[in-house]
Amino acid sequence: MNIITAPTELQKQCQTWRQEGLTIGLVPTMGFFHEGHMALMDRARKLCDKLVVTLFVNPTQFGENEDLDKYPHDFDGDCEKAESHGTDLLFAPEKSSMYDKDHATWVNVPELGKHLCGKSRPVHFTGVCTVVTKLFMLAQPQIAVFGQKDWQQLAIIRRMVRDLNIPVEIVGQPIVREPDGLALSSRNAYLTQEERAAAPALRKGLVKMAEMVKQGEQSAQAAKAFLQTDYASTLPMGTVDYLEIVDPDDIVPVETITGPVLAAVAVVIGKARLIDNILIEV
Ligand code: PAJ
Repeated sequence: MNIITAPTELQKQCQTWRQEGLTIGLVPTMGFFHEGHMALMDRARKLCDKLVVTLFVNPTQFGENEDLDKYPHDFDGDCEKAESHGTDLLFAPEKSSMYDKDHATWVNVPELGKHLCGKSRPVHFTGVCTVVTKLFMLAQPQIAVFGQKDWQQLAIIRRMVRDLNIPVEIVGQPIVREPDGLALSSRNAYLTQEERAAAPALRKGLVKMAEMVKQGEQSAQAAKAFLQTDYASTLPMGTVDYLEIVDPDDIVPVETITGPVLAAVAVVIGKARLIDNILIEV
């Protein structure tokens, strides 16, 4: 596995591969790999000749009081994992090489970033879209794989790629979970033993609510009230940041459920802000 830190070097290598007729698959990440990241690598590996994984804790997608400085890392462990999952090139740039001091260009998809995570993290998706665009321009991949765990991120990237005619196919990978249902996340490392024991309730509540909707509940308000009450008893140490039922493509809240919807939650438990979602097909 080749490890590259210079953006121009990544661009040169990928251009060479393309000239040789090889297809490039991209998996953008912020590192501290778990089975969720590895599932993305495995999926991309099957769809391309050369697998490029990027590891960059992108500062522009973190708000002022967020965990940028504390974000967990394990570079050596990540290298081993990426290599054992068939990565050809790991791109791990310095912050200064990705953003010049006078960086002034931003990519934004405001319509899809108004709700859910975009509401409580106002700069987040502009940072994500900008860095993902830069990574697309550097690696020029034919395919790129993103996780459905960050459903809103995936929907925004799909829309950005469509609207800007970026020649890349976006592949969505299902959420990888612990045996008890907790979605894998680098931020699970922040949980204490007690918080970790309670955390599966996040998913359990969503599943119960989905069942209620499948049984015929059409009022989003009633379904959300049910989940709020459920979390109050199952996750007493958690603070609900949002708990919403939205259109899966446009990410706008739905009042009456008559077609497929996405139920999405963010709950702060101790030092961790955990997100999860479930697609409810009715
Ligand atoms: P990061 O949180 O490291 O996630 C990298 C990719 O892994 C994302 O596409 C995310 O959805 C996916 N992922 C994380 N946990 C997962 C799980 N349990 N199951 C399936 N997929 C999972 O998301 C980012 O980084 C950044 O915003 C990034 C896109 C790299 C831009 O900086």
